[in-house]
Amino acid sequence: MVTSVGTNKKLNRRDFLGWLWGLSLAGLFAETGVALFQFFKPRVESGSFGSEVVAGTLEEFGLNTVSYVQKGRLYISRLEDGGVLALWQRCTHLGCTVPWREASGEFNCPCHSSIFNRQGEVLGGPAPRPLDLFPVSLKEGKLVVDTGHPIMRDAFDPSQVFHPG
Ligand code: FES
Repeated sequence: MVTSVGTNKKLNRRDFLGWLWGLSLAGLFAETGVALFQFFKPRVESGSFGSEVVAGTLEEFGLNTVSYVQKGRLYISRLEDGGVLALWQRCTHLGCTVPWREASGEFNCPCHSSIFNRQGEVLGGPAPRPLDLFPVSLKEGKLVVDTGHPIMRDAFDPSQVFHPG
């Protein structure tokens, strides 16, 4: 009887220490996981890429022009009829930054020579689809682009154009 009780006490203590060890490890893993998540989580500052970006007043974008908005990593393409497209600068082939060439009136990707027109449509090269769009709105006379929600598309469609009132 005495031996049995002694054995039980020893086992209970071992179990308790095992649980304590397990809980400590779980806590350590949880803290490490939270710290890693915080470290690698993309930091989105208000007004910069990944959030709503004020591109400028409507008057800053003349008809039939393409303007680069660096803080949004996008182009505002103002069409002849006043419509607006906010085009992501990222090539839809492998993600290179696509510069606008005023002389040719086209976007020319320097990586593998994809060509896009001012609506973002593919004119040549390996790009599989048009440049992605961002939603645009007009707030207090300023064009606001939601760079947190890019829109992929298979082709250009006039319904994609934002027409400021
Ligand atoms: S990344 Fe633009 S064509 Fe390949």
